[in-house]
Amino acid sequence: MLSPTMLILSLPLLLLSNILYKYLRNPLRQVPAAHPLAPFTSLWILYIRFHALENQTLRAAHERLGPIICLSPHEVSVNCVKGGIRDVYAGGMEKGNGRFNWYSFFTNYGIPNMFSLGGNKEHSVRKRMLSNVYSKSVVTSSAPLLAQSSVIFYQRFFPYLERTFSQAEPGVLNIYALFSATTMDIVCAYLFGLASGSNLIDNPNELDHFLDLFNSRRSHNFFPQEMPELTQALQKWFGYRLVPEFVNRSNEEIESWTKAMCDRASGLLRQSDVEIKTVDTPVVYQQLSAAIAKEVKKSGMEKVDLDLRIASEVLDHLAAGFDTSGITLAYLVHELSLRPDVQYKLREELLSLSPPMKPSSTPTLPDPKAVDALPFLHAVIWETLRLHSAIPGPQPRITPSSGCRLGPEERSYYIPGNFRVSASAGLLHSNEDVYPRATEWRPERWIEEVDEDKRKDMESRWFWAFGSGGRMCVGSHLAVYRKLESP
Ligand code: HEM
Repeated sequence: MLSPTMLILSLPLLLLSNILYKYLRNPLRQVPAAHPLAPFTSLWILYIRFHALENQTLRAAHERLGPIICLSPHEVSVNCVKGGIRDVYAGGMEKGNGRFNWYSFFTNYGIPNMFSLGGNKEHSVRKRMLSNVYSKSVVTSSAPLLAQSSVIFYQRFFPYLERTFSQAEPGVLNIYALFSATTMDIVCAYLFGLASGSNLIDNPNELDHFLDLFNSRRSHNFFPQEMPELTQALQKWFGYRLVPEFVNRSNEEIESWTKAMCDRASGLLRQSDVEIKTVDTPVVYQQLSAAIAKEVKKSGMEKVDLDLRIASEVLDHLAAGFDTSGITLAYLVHELSLRPDVQYKLREELLSLSPPMKPSSTPTLPDPKAVDALPFLHAVIWETLRLHSAIPGPQPRITPSSGCRLGPEERSYYIPGNFRVSASAGLLHSNEDVYPRATEWRPERWIEEVDEDKRKDMESRWFWAFGSGGRMCVGSHLAVYRKLESP
């Protein structure tokens, strides 16, 4: 029999041999390791994520080791098209279910939405309900959207700028806050109609409060996203909170704010005796509520949470839509401020539109198709989305249970089933072969003469600001009219 001392001494030995045994049996030991500890334990990548060093660490590791690297005993990162994003995302790998689903964190009101749903089947049912209202043809010809954006630009955005710059001492214009307000007002108008949506441009206190609620949560994502079981267990068994209480309160307040807009839109739709004005049409809400009600009726599901199902979905759209677009516009203005020549050229092009987009003009925006056709505007937006992707980091997926091969043909590896795999826009967009002088903001690259294959690489195969495959951004045409092709 082992004495207690021997038992204690043998425990670390047992643990070490277990790690070694798992390492020797794990096919990932063949994949170049981002760090010597990566094939043995997840602690290294967790440490990197906790310290928000992931993007820069993965960039350096891919540069050193190639397009596929091991991040932990159960995780790889890919940075290539063939054997990479084409297989993982266009190939339809799932987000995973239960504890494997990293995206359950994005659930609202405790109810999943399109973005947080793990399985492809349930996801595609929801996507079918919404793809039409976000398709390019509907977005570019929508009378409500044109009317809503015209009011937001001519009655809110331009007057805000005029008020700011007509003051004797204009002070500092917080362009990030102004763009966040503008993108939120536009997205909410399309979701709920102008009268039922937000008006953050004209309500700076509400805007400050909202941005505070929204952004203060960011630094507390790590534990619930990466260690959801530990986070829940510590709170349940020991009452210890890894996420401060105020994060829950912020979530609840954002949920109530969204629910109030849903209730206004629903109230308007119920008034059968009143004709809804074009500008107040709740395009997305109307389509979604009808489709979800039909789904609930058909499947015999409980009706009770019908309103919250709709609210969970639209809250995800407004959060995804305003934040990404606001960040992109803030970067765009920053880059323009450093390149007066580009500013000048862009202004010339925009003034060629009819009516021209300036405060004194007719209060109607030009035809979306004419805006879509502007080559320099396209170049400036595309270059900003490339260099400053609003979602630059990993988009995790789970390998199919039968396993798969990943990596370029000449250096591909077997990856077992239910392992985590991800790619990142920030890394794909820094490929020097596709985007020479990749660290520079150079809109010119999009109008320079290049052969057709190279253009395809730039515009579709390697361009990943909106993701790719079945779970690609559904709002991409609302953000930018231009058509995108999946690699
Ligand atoms: C510059 C603006 C935008 C960028 C860079 C962006 C980027 C992205 C990315 C990278 C994804 C994830 C794709 C994936 O998981 O593979 C996504 C998903 C999504 N985006 Fe956007 N987005 C933008 C604007 C918008 C807008 C305006 C809306 C809608 C109002 C929107 C709604 C969504 C939704 C609902 C999803 C989930 C789609 C799904 O799961 O099928 N986004 N977006």
